Amino acid sequence: MTASISAQLLAWYDRNARDLPWRLPPGSVLPDDPAWPYRVWLSEVMLQQTTVAAVKPYFAKFVTTWPTVEALAAASDDDVMAAWAGLGYYSRARNLLKCARAVAERGGFPATEAELRALPGLGDYTAAAVAAIAFGSRAVVVDANVERVVARLFAIEEPLPKARKAIRAAAGTITPQERAGDFAQAMMDLGSHVCTSRAPRCLLCPLAETCAGRKQGEPERLPVKPPKKAVPERRGTAFWITRPNSSGEGTEVWLVTRPGEGMLGGMRALPDDGWTARADGSGAPPLAGEWRVLGAVRHGFTHASLTLEVLALETADTPRGEGQWWPVGTIGDAGMATLFAKAAQLALAAA
Ligand code: ADE
Repeated sequence: MTASISAQLLAWYDRNARDLPWRLPPGSVLPDDPAWPYRVWLSEVMLQQTTVAAVKPYFAKFVTTWPTVEALAAASDDDVMAAWAGLGYYSRARNLLKCARAVAERGGFPATEAELRALPGLGDYTAAAVAAIAFGSRAVVVDANVERVVARLFAIEEPLPKARKAIRAAAGTITPQERAGDFAQAMMDLGSHVCTSRAPRCLLCPLAETCAGRKQGEPERLPVKPPKKAVPERRGTAFWITRPNSSGEGTEVWLVTRPGEGMLGGMRALPDDGWTARADGSGAPPLAGEWRVLGAVRHGFTHASLTLEVLALETADTPRGEGQWWPVGTIGDAGMATLFAKAAQLALAAA
């Protein structure tokens, strides 16, 4: 009798697991150390919609600065948002902090998927991943890589996103009781390195013999994706407002903290004209004066493509609203999201 799918995959993982900073070697006994679920949780939040290569330096920075969930819970919102700058999808950082504070309050991470799911800011995927990887509980962990592997293995023809239910059910049929964390990470490694979106490397696949998608001859067709929606084009304006510092030997720039839970909420930024709400970027500048046009930067969000014009003003006045003067020489430490970091770079190049 041939080994089950999970046994074949785990045997492959024993030989091929990637060595990653948040991982133990395959088959390890899970440590009884509160820092362990913390690291797993942090890495899983960072890895959503983000590549392993992009996450590695952020993971290192976070676990060095905040080695425990209690340390992270005690950090200021500003420091955490600034440390997240450049990683994108900033609601993750806001939710990360909410969750850290709740976990610190209750005295540590719970071990079951249901209790994890009940924490604020912790969704279905993260609950399943932490339950399986940190605590070894059987949980069905489905990210985009796993989705692709399962859709092919079972030749699920239904298009995404409707297919998610069938994919999850099929993933449930192959998830083992034991080594659930290794199994989840084996599926992720298989999806990212072997069962790739384009040109899957079926010759290297431990599941090739059982793969219905491969038998049909065109595994790369699966999962069937819905047609791509065109993303709207938006225009907006960012304001680079500077003044000499008190010693007269340097320059300061006016920064704001973006409000609440909205677009890039909680992140330090250049003031802007409220482009998120408008297609034409027609808001008024925060000060009257002789504005100079420095140029424009482009940035792609998942929901829109933005052209952000950058206007500059040197002034002795303080702009309307809340904000702070920040030394231009250390603007890289302000922790601005990539869009505003690009705008600042343009302004510095024009100075
Ligand atoms: N993507 C999401 N979680 C992951 C993990 N634990 N290892 C590798 N890639 C991942």
